[in-house]
Amino acid sequence: MNVSSPIKSAAVPNDLDAFWMPFTANRAFKKAPRLLAGAEGMHYITVDGRRLIDAAAGMWCTNAGHGRETIAAAIQKQAAAVDYVPPFQFGYPPAFELASRIAELAPDDLNHVFFCNSGSEAVDTALKIALAYQQARGEGTRTRLIGRERGYHGVGFGGISVGGIVNNRRMFGTLLTGVDHLPTTYDREKQAFTKGEPEYGAHFADELERIVGLHGPGTIAAVIVEPMAGSTGVLPPPKGYLQKLREITTKHGILLIFDEVITGFGRLGAAFAAERYGVTPDLITFAKGVTNGAVPMGGVLVRDAVHDAFMTGPEHLIELFHGYTYSAHPLACAAGLASLDIYRDENLFGRAKALEPKFADAVMTLRKEPNVLDIRTVGITAAIDLAGIEGAAGKRGMAALDTAFHQTDIVLRVTGDTIALTPPLIVSEDQIGEIVEKVAKTIRAVA
Ligand SMILES: Cc1ncc(COP(=O)(O)O)c(C=O)c1O
Repeated sequence: MNVSSPIKSAAVPNDLDAFWMPFTANRAFKKAPRLLAGAEGMHYITVDGRRLIDAAAGMWCTNAGHGRETIAAAIQKQAAAVDYVPPFQFGYPPAFELASRIAELAPDDLNHVFFCNSGSEAVDTALKIALAYQQARGEGTRTRLIGRERGYHGVGFGGISVGGIVNNRRMFGTLLTGVDHLPTTYDREKQAFTKGEPEYGAHFADELERIVGLHGPGTIAAVIVEPMAGSTGVLPPPKGYLQKLREITTKHGILLIFDEVITGFGRLGAAFAAERYGVTPDLITFAKGVTNGAVPMGGVLVRDAVHDAFMTGPEHLIELFHGYTYSAHPLACAAGLASLDIYRDENLFGRAKALEPKFADAVMTLRKEPNVLDIRTVGITAAIDLAGIEGAAGKRGMAALDTAFHQTDIVLRVTGDTIALTPPLIVSEDQIGEIVEKVAKTIRAVA
């Protein structure tokens, strides 16, 4: 890709002050910006023309790699054909096609798709569907929602309420009431340096029985978990844990929601983590990979029984008072259909599955590097916990991010002092080697 000077000048304004950047240390960033101007395949291209290998798939989004021509062409064609169609009371055929294609990828009878524009909206939508479903079936006392410590469900009020990350919660008031949290499934002492799902920890699901016992099953609408907690450092579920959650929720008439915003579309070597784990939840949230990150889109997959509970009453009435101006936006539908074509034609989910053992072996070699406390791998995903600097939690992680960008030419995701590796699923074995080598250099540089 030719990153010419007009892109440079457009991408580097003189003053970075106006843009209040999300989840960013704004003052530090603006003193030493990390600016990206282009992307192609496995690489980002900086404003000064350096090629950085992308070990993060942007932000868990570009599973098919960057700059896919068929996606760009589909978006262009779509924009020229129809710019916008109102999704309330009107329809645009590709939206129906995309919903069917996504439902086809989902297990069992998760046959219905509600579209929105992000993971956060998908989570709020799923929570609202769960609450409304309980009302629709005459169980309106079920208003409680259960999340999990170290869960990330985006930044809407619903998502931060069921989420389990203190910094995302503590500044924002009382949040939703009637929310409880399961404990995290992570125990470093018992699980360190596990490839895939740890043997230890299925019993953490039994906490749900305790919560149900405390409040009474008739008060609980839904449990929401990420099948693999991504944002707080890649925590694969212990063996048998998700099955237990499914058993307990089914027993007590509680809906089970899998937040698959990260794990959807191949990250764990299957279309959805639900398939990998053989557990069918009642709702699945998705976003990110559905359009390969090219256009914002999210959604919720819904099982027949939940959907059908709303399809009663007079037919001229709206069944669910919820939706977004940009639900199933034509550009997102075009990008989604083109992305699903690539995933299918290049068998990227199968590729990820086949590559998983090699990826895990390669990443585990980082164990010998300084300050490495734990490494976890699952699918084409890994996390490396580094020891924090005394009294300055997160500083070593930030230094790693910065060093990676400015010196070792790799784009990483960092949460606190944990480095996450989540490259596009097109990553080659050589590129896995390159990523591991660059991460090793980075870890040494911040030791
Ligand atoms: C599991 C999960 N849910 C929800 C979200 C929120 O998605 P978005 O940032 O698109 O709102 C994320 C984002 O990383 C996520 O990982």
